Amino acid sequence: MNLDLDSTGQLGEIRDLPVHLSDALWRVESASIAPSRSAGLAICGMGGSGVGASLAIGVLGERAQRPVVALRGYSLPAWVGEDWTVLLSSYSGNTEETLACWDAAASTRRIVVSTGGELVERAREARVPVIPLPGGFQPRAAVGYATVVALEVAALCGAAASLREEVEGAAALLPSLVDAVDGEARELAAVLKDCVPVFCGAGLTAPVAYRWKCQVNENANRAAFWSELPEFDHNEIEGWGDRSVLAPVFLEDAQAPDRIRRRFDLTADVIGGAHRVTTRGETPTERLMSLVLLGDLVSFHLAVNDGTDPVAIPALQRLKAELCD
Ligand code: F6R
Repeated sequence: MNLDLDSTGQLGEIRDLPVHLSDALWRVESASIAPSRSAGLAICGMGGSGVGASLAIGVLGERAQRPVVALRGYSLPAWVGEDWTVLLSSYSGNTEETLACWDAAASTRRIVVSTGGELVERAREARVPVIPLPGGFQPRAAVGYATVVALEVAALCGAAASLREEVEGAAALLPSLVDAVDGEARELAAVLKDCVPVFCGAGLTAPVAYRWKCQVNENANRAAFWSELPEFDHNEIEGWGDRSVLAPVFLEDAQAPDRIRRRFDLTADVIGGAHRVTTRGETPTERLMSLVLLGDLVSFHLAVNDGTDPVAIPALQRLKAELCD
């Protein structure tokens, strides 16, 4: 592996996921945000700053006691009223969609998570609490932070019980898994070398399939798609007759309900096979994070195997620059 290609040390940041989980807990606690019961929690953020919301929703699953929704766009639905909490998540603090949501959420209880930028300036002026993130990451590499902040804010607004102990457990477990997960990632990256992967999850692993897709897009600069069971079995299953360059990769939860496990087996059979990976660990946070780690490493190895620096996102940067003109 040519690590010179990794000009900004993305591999180290991926492997540091457990450190990010613990540090995120500390950062939320240090922000001293008063608990306040809300009708629900809406989390607004794009790309790497939005995916943590989806992962947190996956971790909470049926444990959420009030609605927790991830919003990726310029506006809020009318049902996000003044009795809701809105978490504005932007690593840079300068993402236009998230700034538009800041304005749209003016009548709600707002909380900001960011490193700075316009969003933090506006929060300071409006005396809105800010959970500060450490600088120097690619936003997508701060996924552990974004997920834990979303979970802890859900607890602060009464949408779910705090999963602090689960997060601490995952932070303690992951270091012992990293080398084995990296070995599996290298193997999968080699298998996917000339393929367009389609990642498919279910329940806890559905938002992880989305994360894998985004990481392959951004780290490896490659096309990738995602999907989820059981919906896959009601339409997409018919589309796999000619798979040519497409490679299905099933992300399975070792503790998924029997019917979902059966569906993965049967679906793989019907479509003519799939690469299959499974969660490690016990709690939902451990299981979800073990697959986030695997996907991040797969995307890293895909990039390096292709001779691509995993930090480079030229198309995304070009588009952002042209939007500013
Ligand atoms: C870049 C990345 C992007 C950004 C997105 C929003 O590493 O992950 O998906 O997260 O363009 O920017 P921020 O996170 O600054 O709000």
